[in-house]
Amino acid sequence: MDKDIKQQLEDLQKRLRTAPASEKAKIGAEYNQIKTEYEEKQRKEQKEKEERELQEKLNKDPLIDITVPKLGDKVTPFGLHPITIITREVEEALIGMGFIIEDGPEIATEFENFESLNIPTHHPARDMQDTYWLSDGRVLRTHTSMWQNYMMRKYGPTFRAICPGRCFRNESTDATHENTFFQIEGMMVGEDVSVANLVYFMKEITTTILKRDIDIRLRPSYFPFTEPSFEMDATCIFCEGSGCSVCKQSGWVELFPCGMIHPKVLEMGGINPKKYQGFAFGFGLTRLAMFKWGIKDIRLFNSGNLEFLKGSKEVLS
Ligand code: FA5
Repeated sequence: MDKDIKQQLEDLQKRLRTAPASEKAKIGAEYNQIKTEYEEKQRKEQKEKEERELQEKLNKDPLIDITVPKLGDKVTPFGLHPITIITREVEEALIGMGFIIEDGPEIATEFENFESLNIPTHHPARDMQDTYWLSDGRVLRTHTSMWQNYMMRKYGPTFRAICPGRCFRNESTDATHENTFFQIEGMMVGEDVSVANLVYFMKEITTTILKRDIDIRLRPSYFPFTEPSFEMDATCIFCEGSGCSVCKQSGWVELFPCGMIHPKVLEMGGINPKKYQGFAFGFGLTRLAMFKWGIKDIRLFNSGNLEFLKGSKEVLS
């Protein structure tokens, strides 16, 4: 203890012993005030010392995450992120239909992201996906389709699998475009897999996820890695097909790109296209979550906005 303060407190204690009763309360109060102020000052100094030491430790070890709540901190219970909720729902629905779940890497080689999908260098389809290139020639995956070749090599000519994950495109953001968003890729490969199987599964998946019976339709589209390629539309769930601003008065909303896996892609995956066929789909999980819960701006997902998550607890659960 500080020498001066100690002396002061000892003096007061001595005075307290010999002082007349009428003065004891006053001396006692003075004693308590000095002691409390001293203890308060000490607590503050101790706290500052601990914070200084922690900061020094953090400066030395950047892997410590200071945003993680400390044991005993009061944590406000927010809901799960909508992407977590919808990923779990889609996974649950597809496991029930015999699909296995795989995790793919977010960094892909040029071969995985493009060439294995029948998109060689200089193919105009590369321009459809504005890509983040790394200095070593690899890319931040622009779509979960980059995982198709790996899956065919791993599971051979008969399997059903999905791979959800984050994708990256060097896009200007607006209400429906983000540079970081989630997709889920699905594939079914085997003998006699046809467009009829594709239509069946797409309808089942959509109905299960949106929890209502909706109509779907396929429109012809183009992807270098599927032939034929389609865009699957679903009846607009906001107007039940009668036309509104969300579906631009058409009654339909574009939901999933899909198609039959191109024979060249099967071949590059080590599968004989004369004997086996397959379908693939790759839908935007983030856009699906927007559609399902009427979320108007995609930028909310990555905003870290706690009100958004609070909403997800009340609205989405
Ligand atoms: C693809 O990425 C194809 N790999 C999909 C595919 C897989 C087709 C298998 C056929 C077979 P596309 O670029 O259209 O296709 O993206 C698929 C979905 O990802 C879109 O429908 C959309 O929902 C979502 N998406 C794409 N870009 C963005 C973005 N910038 N922000 C948010 N979502 C996006």
